Amino acid sequence: MADPIVARSLDEIRFWSRIMKEHALFLSLGFTYEQKQLIDEARQFITMFERIEEKLSTFTVNSDLRQVQAFNTEVYQAVAAIWSYKRKVLGLTLRCQIRHNNFPLLVDHISREAAYFANRLKELNEGILTPKPDDVIEENVFFLRIMADHAKFIGHLLDPSERKLVEQAREFSHDFDQLLFQAIDLDSMRPQSETKPILSQFLDQNKVSVVSLRDFKKTARELIEACRIKSNIHPLLADHTFREAERFLEIIDLFEANLNRKQS
Ligand SMILES: [Fe+2]
Ligand SMILES: [Fe+2]
Repeated sequence: MADPIVARSLDEIRFWSRIMKEHALFLSLGFTYEQKQLIDEARQFITMFERIEEKLSTFTVNSDLRQVQAFNTEVYQAVAAIWSYKRKVLGLTLRCQIRHNNFPLLVDHISREAAYFANRLKELNEGILTPKPDDVIEENVFFLRIMADHAKFIGHLLDPSERKLVEQAREFSHDFDQLLFQAIDLDSMRPQSETKPILSQFLDQNKVSVVSLRDFKKTARELIEACRIKSNIHPLLADHTFREAERFLEIIDLFEANLNRKQS
């Protein structure tokens, strides 16, 4: 039988390697012409993750566990490298040594995503099938903050004259900030808060908001692609944030299935 660690590893790498490659692209596009060195570094990461994607296509769910573990380690090293590059850019930005068009919160955000991916790979190689069912709250804290950030980026990258859409993005930002605080409250009430009815309500509530944010991102993506709205948002960035919302929904479904299994 195929090893579930193999399947999960390949799935995480498929999703997150593309994300890492796109982060490098977004960073490179946000720099100015005098930041050649940083642009070159970003391009090297694009190539690095393209190679990983090529190598990924040689694996299947029936691949040998040891080979997949070696690949996980290789990908981990690439992710650790892009993480330190992002943190370096953040440092240069916050010390005002460079000025560019990537918001500091965006640079921090994409480095958090890299740290998340690296941690996943590490856990998978320790034989832990992640996300673990017990990590419901922690995982939601991570993703709710990611979603709240996305709403803020969209709101700040839309042209100010797109008043209705800016307003909608602001509402999403507020909604997700509230959900994030609720999640943090539940987190500090752990382990007592880990009861089935509470976790199930928590997931239901989060899901409703993620579905509507996902739909908003989808609409934004279509409007941007058709050049119907004014913004500084790259169509690929709109699609990127849409895919991350879809990923969060898949994880919520996974947790819900697990909760229901426990009950029966
Ligand atoms: Fe991302
Ligand atoms: Fe993101």
